[in-house]
Amino acid sequence: MKVRLSKPSFAGREKLLAEFGEMLNDGYLVSGRRVREFEDLAAGYLGTPNAAAVSSGTAALHLALLALDIGPGDEVIVPAYTFPATANAVELTGARPVFADIDSKTFTIDPSRARMAVTGRTRAIMPVHLFGVPAPMDALMQLAHERSLAVIEDAAGALGSEILGRKCGTIGEAGCFSFHPRKVATTAEGGMVVARDQALAERVRMLRSHGMSFKDGVPNLILPGFNYRMNEMEAALGLEQVGRIEPLIQERRKLHERYRKLLEKVPGLAFQQTSQQCRCAWQSLVVRFDTIDSWTIIEHLRQRDIEATIGTYAVPLLGYYRDKYNFGPADFPKAAEIYEHAVALPFYNGLTEDEADYVAAVVRDLVESRHPGQGKR
Ligand SMILES: Cc1ncc(COP(=O)(O)O)c(C=O)c1O
Repeated sequence: MKVRLSKPSFAGREKLLAEFGEMLNDGYLVSGRRVREFEDLAAGYLGTPNAAAVSSGTAALHLALLALDIGPGDEVIVPAYTFPATANAVELTGARPVFADIDSKTFTIDPSRARMAVTGRTRAIMPVHLFGVPAPMDALMQLAHERSLAVIEDAAGALGSEILGRKCGTIGEAGCFSFHPRKVATTAEGGMVVARDQALAERVRMLRSHGMSFKDGVPNLILPGFNYRMNEMEAALGLEQVGRIEPLIQERRKLHERYRKLLEKVPGLAFQQTSQQCRCAWQSLVVRFDTIDSWTIIEHLRQRDIEATIGTYAVPLLGYYRDKYNFGPADFPKAAEIYEHAVALPFYNGLTEDEADYVAAVVRDLVESRHPGQGKR
């Protein structure tokens, strides 16, 4: 049996193909009604009035930072275990990403480390709701309030995750989503910025489209901007995906529960933890192995036709940041540990129970062969 790591699922194919057909006929490929409808749909789902669709999650982070006027001389606190885009977006504004280590149970930023990282130059905290697990927003919002910092949530993989009923991405000044194919809802490439404040959303809209604004139809160039727009084809996919986001999330939660039942007693294997107060819209299933390194597991799975990969990256330990700031694993021991021991297992809408059972059996056999006699049921 061959099992893929991830695969987007589209329902209502006829409707989607008809929409694409209509788009070819009407010829509106950019800046049309579909992008606006997609923004309205996502905003309605998230319960926020201000949503701007953009070309990727990376563009969303970059624009949120720039719209908050963050740049040279500023510092932004980011977790040490995340996708490189989180830190890169900060670096590309000219500000400095200041890395804070994570909690090794939730894989999200440790608020006490974030607190220690604050200096007189800190302008913002950028927590990541990693793989759909909410970051500890209570403690971070408190810190932000005390030190007058902005909070930009990297909710790239957390559309639909909640803390005490509040949607991730809507708690700080701005929230950034990705619609890459490994996310719960995809537009192929695509992203979104949601902003608490309408003026901030307007700045994002202006910067995503060359820095131009139109007042009563009269164009003006406010600031040099980008072309970070989402196109109509992407928005058509997004309308289908976000249109059934809750069933997509429920299916993932069921699949996550199945994996948990199959693997929770395996010795030396731990699931990413979350609190009772949270609802996770699981983007990925990432598990930590205490004594086996991730590449040994990944290679073993690949030999059995199962695609797997590492969870994500200890970004300050990757070439550019490591060399620029002279970082070593001792600076971020938890991120370093999880980077070496966490594996993303096959997880997507449409993965069958048989496939999950096969993956779990292969993982169990591997661990059992390393720890004979333990964990038998
Ligand atoms: C935590 C995080 N932030 C940002 C991004 C960037 O999103 P995109 O690939 O849409 O640019 C990703 C992508 O996987 C991510 O996982």
